[in-house]
Amino acid sequence: MSITVEIADRATPELLAGLNHLLPQLSTSAPRLSEDDLRDLVSSDASTLFVALNEGVIVGTLTLVIFPIPTGLRAWIEDVVVDQRTRGLGAGAALTQAALDEARRRNVRSIDLTSRPSREAANALYRKLGFVQRSTNVYRFSVQD
Ligand SMILES: CC(C)(COP(=O)(O)OP(=O)(O)OC[C@H]1O[C@@H](n2cnc3c(N)ncnc32)[C@H](O)[C@@H]1OP(=O)(O)O)[C@@H](O)C(=O)NCCC(=O)NCCS
Repeated sequence: MSITVEIADRATPELLAGLNHLLPQLSTSAPRLSEDDLRDLVSSDASTLFVALNEGVIVGTLTLVIFPIPTGLRAWIEDVVVDQRTRGLGAGAALTQAALDEARRRNVRSIDLTSRPSREAANALYRKLGFVQRSTNVYRFSVQD
């Protein structure tokens, strides 16, 4: 098995199907991505969509969001998920490493992410790649739902 990672910049039917296969494995409440949603995502200046491929089949995804604020160019990593059948084979690490490389290339100052403590594999992955846990409160204001 040989995992590769690339930036997905075209809204193809294969990409749409691949993401809609993966997103329910991240969250059962994840809404289904439409063709329009995918077009908006791949054409966004802020978001970079990465996919992990195994022999041409999408087996994982991660989105890197880069945005300027007064304290510098910052980034978030969001929506990281690897297909259940392909976990433990390095796809998650390869996706995260690709996002770190891209952020470095674009002179980002810091990269944040959140991960619930119950997501043991994800927390181990991020720590292994050098993310350091911060002491802060995470708040969310739900505009919809
Ligand atoms: C988290 C996730 C993306 C990891 O993807 P993956 O391809 O299985 O991870 P990798 O094979 O690249 O593993 C890299 C490292 O992650 C950690 N890891 C992976 N699976 C693990 C597990 N089951 N238990 C503990 N640590 C684990 C290890 O540190 C591993 O390094 P090692 O193999 O040298 O021990 C995947 O488990 C997943 O999709 N989980 C469900 C969705 C999710 O939690 N997403 C993250 C949201 S914040």
